[in-house]
Amino acid sequence: MSKPMFIEVKDVSKSFRNNGKDELILKDINLSVNQRETIAILGQSGCGKSTLLNIIGGFEPANVGQVLLDGKEVTKPSKKSVMLFQHYGLLPWRSVLKNVELGLEDSNLSKEERKKQAYHYVELVGLGDKANHFPRQLSGGMQQRVSIARALAIEPDVLLMDEPFGALDTFNRYYLQDELIRIQQEMKTTIIIVTHDIDEAIYLADRVVVMGKEPGRIQREIVIDSYKPRDRSGDEFQYYRKQILQEFHLNSSKPPLEYHI
Ligand SMILES: Nc1ncnc2c1ncn2[C@@H]1O[C@H](COP(=O)(O)OP(=O)(O)OP(=O)(O)O)[C@@H](O)[C@H]1O
Ligand SMILES: [Mg+2]
Repeated sequence: MSKPMFIEVKDVSKSFRNNGKDELILKDINLSVNQRETIAILGQSGCGKSTLLNIIGGFEPANVGQVLLDGKEVTKPSKKSVMLFQHYGLLPWRSVLKNVELGLEDSNLSKEERKKQAYHYVELVGLGDKANHFPRQLSGGMQQRVSIARALAIEPDVLLMDEPFGALDTFNRYYLQDELIRIQQEMKTTIIIVTHDIDEAIYLADRVVVMGKEPGRIQREIVIDSYKPRDRSGDEFQYYRKQILQEFHLNSSKPPLEYHI
């Protein structure tokens, strides 16, 4: 028997009941992810990206089908995976450092080691000088960086990220995209990242999953066969951009620097 893929989404469908009616949100989703692979899920608002990520993370049950993580059915959130939610989810009464330490509290690390590890990731996202600030004292982009640090500090096998860089300016976004690639290569993390940003998907992913909507479904998978770090202004990048834009029926002879859908 062949070895199962690290993450397998099998025939998943999901409905939500809204205003007394069942609405089909996801239909027949099949997706296999290898260990150490980075997958970007790209699609328009409302197509079910967060819902799919929640199902993969065990936060939401599917109505039909199943998700397997390392061969075992996902029925609840697993310690192997960490979800970085679309909203920051910071505890307002805890400092930046204490928020990042949160995920390490039931680890085997001593108090000192926990603090050291948390501080390392706070520094990594460029907030070393704000470690003792509280979330309300930070900008939206900084709060987003704290939640990124918290997810990374856990050093999980699987990182599920829902538009993690959406609130960041271009420079911070580029910097953290590079850090994410570096961390992924060092830790051998498997990453599924939901994004609206076509360039971000091409820059980070080994495979881009394009979703269609109503109901949410996988429209196409595009393998990005190119070494990292990738040249955002190179011909290869432009080639993949065109392919993805075609999927969304968006075409332009003069592309802007970045595309968002
Ligand atoms: N808990 C819920 N109860 C009812 N309907 C829901 C629930 N969660 C999501 N939906 C509906 O499912 C659809 C998909 O939502 P989802 O949040 O997965 O979209 P998305 O692709 O992540 O969108 P965005 O890019 O705006 O974040 C929407 O129509 C939304 O109204
Ligand atoms: Mg969403």
